[in-house]
Amino acid sequence: MQIKTVGVLGCGLMGAGIAQVSAAAGYKTIVREVEEPFLKKGLARIEKFLAGGVEKGKVTAEGKDKTLRNLSGTTKLEDLKDCDIIIEAIIEKVDEKGKSYATLESVVGGDTIFCSNTSSLCITELASRTTRPDRFAGLHFFNPVPIMKLVEVIRGLATSDQTYQSVFAFAQSLGKEPITAPDKPGFIVNRLLVPYLLDAIRSYEHGLGTIEDIDKGMKLGCGYPMGPFTLLDFVGLDTTYYIANIMFDEYREPAYAPPPLLKRMVLAGRLGRKSGRGFYTY
Ligand code: CAA
Repeated sequence: MQIKTVGVLGCGLMGAGIAQVSAAAGYKTIVREVEEPFLKKGLARIEKFLAGGVEKGKVTAEGKDKTLRNLSGTTKLEDLKDCDIIIEAIIEKVDEKGKSYATLESVVGGDTIFCSNTSSLCITELASRTTRPDRFAGLHFFNPVPIMKLVEVIRGLATSDQTYQSVFAFAQSLGKEPITAPDKPGFIVNRLLVPYLLDAIRSYEHGLGTIEDIDKGMKLGCGYPMGPFTLLDFVGLDTTYYIANIMFDEYREPAYAPPPLLKRMVLAGRLGRKSGRGFYTY
């Protein structure tokens, strides 16, 4: 199918990044946030990233202007009515997502594809909240979206071949490298990444080394861009805790069980970079 207009639901960290790469790829992109201040904040994030790109010589001034011209923001779901594909990146709550899908379905055409950027919820369950489970797929981006090349494409039980192929081709058209992941908690990347991060916390609790030394070990010894604690702070401790719980609920394997320290840090509001303190202080 021909995709010309893209809708993005949510203009937080992920939604803003998705809207940016979509607009940069030449799609008319409409991003929707619930309230004007959140929308302004998200659009400002995009402008700042593009301006930073121009400064670093990674984006041309022309490219920045083109991206911003292709992009518009709204607080009304109805404004997404002409979208060929809608990527939802809102709060990780099935009921909230379901409510948004229902409103969207009352305004969009029958062919519009719905995607969710969920990192942990079941795609088949989300698809079942719509009347178009065959035109529904998971499209999972990585943070920071404009920089990370990977996108996971997830087929729900009812996703049609045509939808899967369209979504995969759409991801490629954004300049991303898509992989096909199963509709199981964590998909491919988080399924491997989260137990590693949890194990780093457990190992630290058991005296393996200091936070700095464990980070340095994995960064310099394995060539990872960030050590596990820097990455935990970057992803967000609450997000990691949330994903770990969903994975543990489904698999019932100790590797996915959130360690006591992670739970306590979340309870104490030490969520990582976003709260100013996690394993490090910002
Ligand atoms: N516009 C365009 N390009 C930009 C840019 C901008 N505003 N800002 C930076 N870049 C480019 C840089 O020029 C650089 O490009 P080159 O490699 O070609 O030189 C690249 O982006 C990296 O930027 P920096 O050099 O400024 O920063 P860095 O080297 O410190 O890298 C990082 C930062 C990309 C975040 C890196 O530390 C990294 O990859 N960390 C790991 C991130 C990660 O693992 N993310 C996944 C988290 S898990 C997730 O998201 C899934 C989930 O469900 C929880």
